[in-house]
Amino acid sequence: MPASTRVVYLNGEYVAAAAARVSAFDGGFMYGDGVYTTLRLYRGHPLDLAAHLERLRRHAAALSLPVPLDDAAFDAAIDRLATLNDLRERDGRLRITVSRGGDPDDPLPLHDLERLVPTVMLALAPVPAELAAWAAEGIEACVLAPGSARGGLAHLKTLNGLPAVLAQREAAARGCREAILVGDDGRLLEGAISNLFLVSGGVLVTPADQDHLLAGRTRARILGLAAALGVPCADRVLMRGDLDAADEAFTASSVREILPIVRVDGRPVGDGRPGPVTRRVQAAFRDLVEKALPAAGPPAG
Ligand SMILES: Cc1ncc(COP(=O)(O)O)c(C=O)c1O
Repeated sequence: MPASTRVVYLNGEYVAAAAARVSAFDGGFMYGDGVYTTLRLYRGHPLDLAAHLERLRRHAAALSLPVPLDDAAFDAAIDRLATLNDLRERDGRLRITVSRGGDPDDPLPLHDLERLVPTVMLALAPVPAELAAWAAEGIEACVLAPGSARGGLAHLKTLNGLPAVLAQREAAARGCREAILVGDDGRLLEGAISNLFLVSGGVLVTPADQDHLLAGRTRARILGLAAALGVPCADRVLMRGDLDAADEAFTASSVREILPIVRVDGRPVGDGRPGPVTRRVQAAFRDLVEKALPAAGPPAG
């Protein structure tokens, strides 16, 4: 469906995506004052919606930002959007954004924030067609320079997205599908839009630094799945040398799910093909999706 015919939910209304408008004084536009979450709809059905909404509310609360919809209202809006956007037979990428709203007479409100009416927007689009090939064949990633962390609020999914945007552009310019962000001290943190996993000697490891990365829903699911599969896992400090020595690597996020990293900065990871532990985790995740969403039928790309 062309973007011009898509429909979004905006402040209680369903409007054509191209006609969706928010105030020029909205704190989200002015200062990145807002939060969001992104998740995948499997033939119209979200996975872990309650957990995504709980995180959205928690992150909004950290900004003293009220979320004016309850879970049932989100659920109903998502269901309607799936129908309006003809995404009941294909998978969709849903973004929920909540921003401050705005007052033209007080463009930087510091007090009485509760008088502002937050903006709530839900946008749904088909998942990119190339994701299935990336999941099957793997992707190349690049490692960014130290100091490329997403900033002081990296544990929150705020609208201050510029570090991740610049990281993705740098990755794209280098012909890569993901950028690996690195702390000031050289530790590996996360992807620009994903969490990072390595496999070394049969152990699944992921960066531990919860203050400087977004410990995502998919990461939590994967740690649970690995435990159930009997794959030992750990979260600890990881450096560039750990990545260079790893047998396997992959990224994890709600929309892209699990993507094997088969090359980093032009060099193969392991034998340059998706590894056996990555494959097992991918298969277990697919299984989880099918079991969690029985009404959705087999997931589609
Ligand atoms: C910076 C960052 N880290 C990690 C993730 C993965 O989070 P989740 O699994 O909750 O989608 C994302 C997802 O967009 C992200 O933007």
